Amino acid sequence: MNNQINLFLEKLQLIIEKKELIKLSLTGKRVKSSDLKKVIITAVEIKKGYCLNFVNRHDTKDITKNYEIQEGVQLINQLLETDFLNAEVFSKNENFQLFILPNGKVRLKMLQPTMMASVSLSHNREKERLIQLQGNIYLQELGITNAGWEVRREMSDKYTQINQYIELLAPYLDEIQLTDNFDVVDMGSGKGYLTFALYDFLANKLKLTPKMTGVEYREDLVNICNSIAEKSGFENLNFVQGTIEKTKLDKIDILIALHACDTATDEAIFRGIKSEADLIVCAPCCHKQIRKAMNVTNELNNITRFGILKERQAEIITDTIRAMILELNGYKTNVFQFISLEHTPKNVMIVGKKVKNNSKNKEQIKTEIDSIKKLYGIEKHYLETLLEM
Ligand SMILES: C[S@@+](CC[C@H](N)C(=O)[O-])C[C@H]1O[C@@H](n2cnc3c(N)ncnc32)[C@H](O)[C@@H]1O
Repeated sequence: MNNQINLFLEKLQLIIEKKELIKLSLTGKRVKSSDLKKVIITAVEIKKGYCLNFVNRHDTKDITKNYEIQEGVQLINQLLETDFLNAEVFSKNENFQLFILPNGKVRLKMLQPTMMASVSLSHNREKERLIQLQGNIYLQELGITNAGWEVRREMSDKYTQINQYIELLAPYLDEIQLTDNFDVVDMGSGKGYLTFALYDFLANKLKLTPKMTGVEYREDLVNICNSIAEKSGFENLNFVQGTIEKTKLDKIDILIALHACDTATDEAIFRGIKSEADLIVCAPCCHKQIRKAMNVTNELNNITRFGILKERQAEIITDTIRAMILELNGYKTNVFQFISLEHTPKNVMIVGKKVKNNSKNKEQIKTEIDSIKKLYGIEKHYLETLLEM
């Protein structure tokens, strides 16, 4: 092997061992027609240990894979022999570049570090956040961070949202005192943004061993999420294709349902209550059932005369009754703003925590629910129908 390449690989190995690698990029295609344009390599700390994360940039797609350090360094060597002419390493204390010239000669150039500021900056920012950027593969795969583990400008709202969600949940998770092997279910998990974040928080920050399932009826999303979970090394996170209503689940200790449409939120709460989940967390979305069921014939008629006000009223009634039904079933319930309106209009969160001795009088709660329904001419809330069935 050429001396300069040897020296390059030794230096690289050393900075990886010292955990000082920020980024390595392989560029300058050897074969112009090749579909592989560039490879970006970063060091990541995942469950199985410190690894090298390769992002292979093709014309139309990115392929991400983790390698153990030795295997990764060998692969870099091989890629320099067969695919690329240049390598640029950014590390904490120095940068260096390798150039393979057309005549076969090799140059190694040492440079001053340029990414120190950005490393310390991202560390500081991360300290304030419960969801870390560096090395978090799912954030990259979901398009929240770029190849350098920085939040992409257009995804900063999403990153804020997932952090606020974890910040809100953290005290509840603390209160229910989770032990090993508890089951978390995310109903209507969609693209999995919040599912991944919660799993990451539970497994990597709290060092717990949750078994987590995302239930989603869109098969394409289920497949994508399962593949991201695998790439991230999230062994106990699994996505299943099915409905909130019917998917078979062993047990539910924590139930999450964020922005599950209309009565899907009721189906989720229903399953949480029936499974005697310790924690039920939902952020409802579209409240059509109560809106249609409302038939106001008293002095409140004016409130429901205007479409938008009727819609808001329906939202308030739907979620109030949901919260009261949770109380009726032994849950201490809170309703609050999930995230500020500028990030998403779907911003109410209902959290029910199962309590042993609920001081609330059940008969009293039932009477109060009935009087709200009577006032608005509502025959039944869908959650009541489910619980009566
Ligand atoms: C608005 S998205 C929210 C996704 C995710 N929970 C979030 O907050 O980012 C709602 C998701 O729930 C799924 N969904 C709605 N009703 C469902 C049902 N009854 N069973 C399974 N999935 C459902 C939809 O396919 C969609 O992906």
